[in-house]
Amino acid sequence: MVQILRYDVVIVGAGLAGLAAAKELTTAGKKTALITKLHPLRSHSGAAQGGINAALGADDSTELHEFDTVKGSDYLADQDCVEFMCSRAPQTVRWAEKMGAVFSRDEKGDIAIRPFGGQSKPRACYAKDRTGLTLLQTVYEQAHRAGVEVFDEYYVADLIYKDNKVSGVAAYNIKDTQPYLFNAKAVMFATGGYGRAYKINSNAHANTGDALSIVARHGLPLEDMEFVQFHPSGLGGSGVLISEAARGEGGRLFNSLGERFMSKYAPEAMELASRDVVARAITQEVNEGRGVGDNKDSVYIDLTHLPKETILQKLPELRELAIAFLGQDMLKEPIEIAATAHYSMGGIPVDRDCHVRQSPTQLVEGFYAAGECSCVSVHGANRLGANSVLEALLFGRHAGETIIKDLERLELRPAHPSDVKSMIEELEFIKTNNGQYTPNELRTKLQESMTHNAGVFRDEVSLLKQREILNDLMVKFQSIRIDDKSDLYNTDLQEAIELGHMIEYSRFIVESAIHRKESRGAHYRVDYPKRDDENFLKHTYLKLNENNEFEIEYADVVLGKFEPKERSY
Ligand code: FUM
Repeated sequence: MVQILRYDVVIVGAGLAGLAAAKELTTAGKKTALITKLHPLRSHSGAAQGGINAALGADDSTELHEFDTVKGSDYLADQDCVEFMCSRAPQTVRWAEKMGAVFSRDEKGDIAIRPFGGQSKPRACYAKDRTGLTLLQTVYEQAHRAGVEVFDEYYVADLIYKDNKVSGVAAYNIKDTQPYLFNAKAVMFATGGYGRAYKINSNAHANTGDALSIVARHGLPLEDMEFVQFHPSGLGGSGVLISEAARGEGGRLFNSLGERFMSKYAPEAMELASRDVVARAITQEVNEGRGVGDNKDSVYIDLTHLPKETILQKLPELRELAIAFLGQDMLKEPIEIAATAHYSMGGIPVDRDCHVRQSPTQLVEGFYAAGECSCVSVHGANRLGANSVLEALLFGRHAGETIIKDLERLELRPAHPSDVKSMIEELEFIKTNNGQYTPNELRTKLQESMTHNAGVFRDEVSLLKQREILNDLMVKFQSIRIDDKSDLYNTDLQEAIELGHMIEYSRFIVESAIHRKESRGAHYRVDYPKRDDENFLKHTYLKLNENNEFEIEYADVVLGKFEPKERSY
């Protein structure tokens, strides 16, 4: 029997964006349900290490922050949204500070700032190398204090969407697979990233992009999916994040010949060029045979020249991670790192006020998104480090403000038990299907092939090959089999559903990448190595039509005071 619960607002995802919105809404007296497939404190926002950007330095300014962000985006970011974000960054950091976030301090007692890649001034405010965790704990406590109702370990499997209006979500309780219908005047998605489609990635196991394919299954578009960010420093072999703070504090990169190779790729900024530039440089060194480590698939980051106190005070977690995963102590020796899938610039298209777009010009009523699952777009083709924690907190809070205003006109459109039909069918199919493929073998194929064919470097041949592989995986998914048929904490079932989503949104990544015949930011086409502003200074909108075929449309980038120029660091 399906349980129907009614709310003003339902928020899906309890990382920084979801919690910030929930805090604002609950404080304003709105009946808010916060649904997460984890516990809020296990959200991936807690893994953000290095910092949150705000122009707090004496010689820094909002305008410089804007310029660095737009340049970093390879001019694809919408400049009105960038201006909004950068101008509100200082007050967002102060908001977190006032709520109790314990930032690291400088010798004067002010919030400490550190350099990060692609930025002309030190601007990343931080809490040692645990910035995301510190913020997550703070906002969670305050949302809890305001009285938000949390449904943790509930899996949202569908959106209730009809006639361009949203009226809730279908979910099940992971504990016993009981179905729920959350009926609401407004629904917000804040489900984070989707890097798990890649074999080497820095993402939590939960980052399977469920919300994206749920949206796409309803024929709504996804924006700029070709832009997947590869962070330069994942631990060799596993991809676990070694924060850009390691380079911000002075870490240097070396290849197997002992060359500090960034001088070839970014002679001025060196290791602090923007992420796409450094990730490509590392991958090129490896591809050309100058890698280190047992498999020669990494390069070294060396911090041994730094004072011991810098590492112990500012990078303690990074040191522990490198010891735990590689047995390498950065106090004594260089450690092995390589590019790792880290962040997705694309996602569910939204306007500056977090309303989901049905097309470049039309909005969906009652539907909102913020944080990494959304595309505002403030990051364009490449995000600057420490702008994602900012985006999540700032736009999450702003989504809350927007919804509070919109609730004056939004009505509760009744939902019916039949609205969970698709979810029930999906659960039944996976539990009862007795095909020949396990989720594990299909997931391995997906992750390995995405890393190989749609990774740091891609071209027509690799992308067309990946399109075929994904089509094949779609077919094989129909012959899936799980061993656990029970209703109690059935993680096999959940992982199979998540795999379905991963395959589906990967098709959007690949299809968008096939059509963008240029190189811009994180999307590097070996066969089209130049940026092409004449044809591609625009956002990709990709959706599935009624016949389940892809339809592509492009939308203008919102330009502003920064004219597109060639990028160099
Ligand atoms: O390198 C890092 O600390 C990651 C930060 C980010 O992605 O913003």
